[in-house]
Amino acid sequence: MDPVVLYTVRNSVAEIELNRRDSKNALDASMYMLLAETLGKAERDPEVRVLLIRGQEDMFCAGNDLKDFADETGPGTKPALALMDAVQSLKKPLIAAVAGPAVGIGTTLLYHCDVVYAAENARFGMPFVALGVCPEFGSSRLAPLSAGYRTAAEAILFAEQFDADYAVRAGIVSRIVPALELLGYARARAEKLASMPRAAVLESKKLLKNHSFRDMPAVFREELAVFDALLESDDARRSIAAFLNRKKS
Ligand code: COA
Repeated sequence: MDPVVLYTVRNSVAEIELNRRDSKNALDASMYMLLAETLGKAERDPEVRVLLIRGQEDMFCAGNDLKDFADETGPGTKPALALMDAVQSLKKPLIAAVAGPAVGIGTTLLYHCDVVYAAENARFGMPFVALGVCPEFGSSRLAPLSAGYRTAAEAILFAEQFDADYAVRAGIVSRIVPALELLGYARARAEKLASMPRAAVLESKKLLKNHSFRDMPAVFREELAVFDALLESDDARRSIAAFLNRKKS
């Protein structure tokens, strides 16, 4: 079986492909751990200057694996925290190429990417409230910061899906690209960034992140304490079971 995260390095760019296609690249415990390890590997690799994360042409990531949330003895949010800490500690630039659905942590991850390219078919959503839980991965701070409070509050409280145009307005996506050109475009941009003065890129990223991302690890933990408590509620259990059983009736 292919690994659920694929890793290749070409022209100083580490390409990290989510590869759990039968679950729309939903992240279960082992995939979170592998993705966190892979990001760390790219960060340490002296050959790598830029990271590019992607799914396939019709899917980016369906968020946390809801089966893990439904399983009372399951891993809960701990594996997600390993990914959050790995992303937060990246000093090298992280670019995302998004096509198809990007849901839950598939969207909130994008707040931590330095540049996000989206295909016209990309669909985003932060369905936390509809699932009976709350925003995670720093999105309670980063969504209002990126979109303004009112736009962010509407996206989070109503928990509705939105398209790439809206995602640009909400400060989640840098640029929309025709679907067939997405990967080539994102690779070319990653290679261009990899060819730019190394120290200037790293220092500039650090300055860009300095203020708005301050204390982020504490924000992750504060959000997840609320998230974990809500996950125990009847509302959350019912909503998650409804998704998992939706094809059975
Ligand atoms: N956890 C576990 N399995 C998931 C999943 C998730 N988050 N998202 C999708 N899957 C599985 C589906 O159960 C389905 O499995 P099956 O073929 O065994 O029935 C398969 O992936 C394909 O999903 P499907 O819903 O049929 O594809 P779609 O193209 O119609 O819709 C999504 C794609 C991502 C919009 C939809 O699957 C979805 O809304 N997923 C849940 C997203 C979510 O709420 N994530 C958690 C946020 S905290």
